[in-house]
Amino acid sequence: LRGDQVIVVSNREPYVHEQGPDGVQVRRPASGLVTAVEPVMRACSGTWIAHGSGSADRAVVDAHDRVGLPPGLQDYQLRRIWLTPEEEQGYYYGFANEGLWPLCHVAHVRPVFREPDWETYRLVNQRFADAVVAEARSEDPVVLVQDYHFALLPAMIRARLPQATILTFWHIPWPNPESFGICPWNREILQGLLGSTILGFHTRFHCRNFMETVDRYLEARIEAEVSTISFQDKETLVESYPISIEWPDAETLARWPPVPECRRRVAARLGLPADVCLAVGIDRFDYTKGILERLNAVERLLEKAPEWVGRFVFVQVAAPTRSSLDEYRSFQERVERAAERINARFAREAYQPVHLLAWHHEPDAVNELFRATDILVVTSLHDGMNLVCKEFVAARDDQQGVLVLSRFAGAAREMTQALIVNPYHVEETADALLRAATMPSAEQRERMVSLRSTVREFNVFRWAARMLADAARWRLRARVEAR
Ligand code: G6P
Repeated sequence: LRGDQVIVVSNREPYVHEQGPDGVQVRRPASGLVTAVEPVMRACSGTWIAHGSGSADRAVVDAHDRVGLPPGLQDYQLRRIWLTPEEEQGYYYGFANEGLWPLCHVAHVRPVFREPDWETYRLVNQRFADAVVAEARSEDPVVLVQDYHFALLPAMIRARLPQATILTFWHIPWPNPESFGICPWNREILQGLLGSTILGFHTRFHCRNFMETVDRYLEARIEAEVSTISFQDKETLVESYPISIEWPDAETLARWPPVPECRRRVAARLGLPADVCLAVGIDRFDYTKGILERLNAVERLLEKAPEWVGRFVFVQVAAPTRSSLDEYRSFQERVERAAERINARFAREAYQPVHLLAWHHEPDAVNELFRATDILVVTSLHDGMNLVCKEFVAARDDQQGVLVLSRFAGAAREMTQALIVNPYHVEETADALLRAATMPSAEQRERMVSLRSTVREFNVFRWAARMLADAARWRLRARVEAR
């Protein structure tokens, strides 16, 4: 693909420019997608098209709505798309986040589908298709379409740039055909996605669910052995590509404060008693992340092992997200009430068992917590991959710390040396936390070394390289066939 133009499309932009009291500030949004795709974009330059959502985003772009990024380096161009409040409401909050998000995560929140949201979703997909065509410098660019905000985009691009290589990656799970059938526009969504040359999911399970869904709702030919779908004379490869993170280089490692220093800083900031066992959760404040289940497990631990009262502290970082939706607001309130309940039951003088830090933390602050903690808890009820657990092991070059991980996160397939739990089972999760709290240092090291070597090897460049290599093969084949 050397020399070919790469265009990425995602809803969320990699950098948000905000107007602060001292001028424009740049913020990194909390998004697994951005964490993964940005290093790939830095490496291959090209153009990233995304919704500009920051209050100062317009102030920093040129006459073509473009800005060079990362700040100071300008490795690639970000082309911002401006959505009206109505477009954002219908396409992003409505169809994507009240419809597709709960539909695809089996998290027992009822999806909501409204006709006007669907209409806006279609229109916004069309606007991004226009931007891709405007940015394309040839008839056959490589376009990387990211996530559930753009299910219709692949077919829209295909209609205008038939030679393009379109790689679509679905960052969230794909449900079974019955669940997907709830969506009134299931056929349109499937047809939209089948405009892709390659359609990627995190796991084989999601690929299989997708192929079964197509089988159920469309007249298509499915070749299960080679994982392809032929629909209206066009073939799409459906493949699993587990996403990952950029492994920290020597320069990054040298910037990190030593582990004991991180621990001292966190303990001082939160007023932690000496010698406590610290457990940390870091998530967007989202009902799919299992934050309530995690709090219930902490409460159960303090009930069944009272010797830990005064010695076990759980810190939850919860970055506010999609807060204009009722479902998110009521979830936040329920979590706040649960934290208060546990603190009311178990707090003692100078001891507070649960700290809920419900604000956005920049990457350095998150890294400090990763390095300070004894246990990292990821209890998603359903998660495409979950990159927080991979970032945690990358942060632990001291080879200590225990990962407690939900079996319903895609990451559980690879991170087999974690303590794997069913977050719906409070007792099991509480027992895993106890086991983590008492795990000997040698066992921690053994598990952590293995987890780190997995993530180091299967890093985000491997994810991108596998997808791009498959794309290059398909491109070659198409060129040969066209002769
Ligand atoms: C998930 C989605 C991403 C999204 C991120 C943050 O990881 O797969 O597409 O960017 O959540 O959510 P937000 O709605 O703030 O972009």
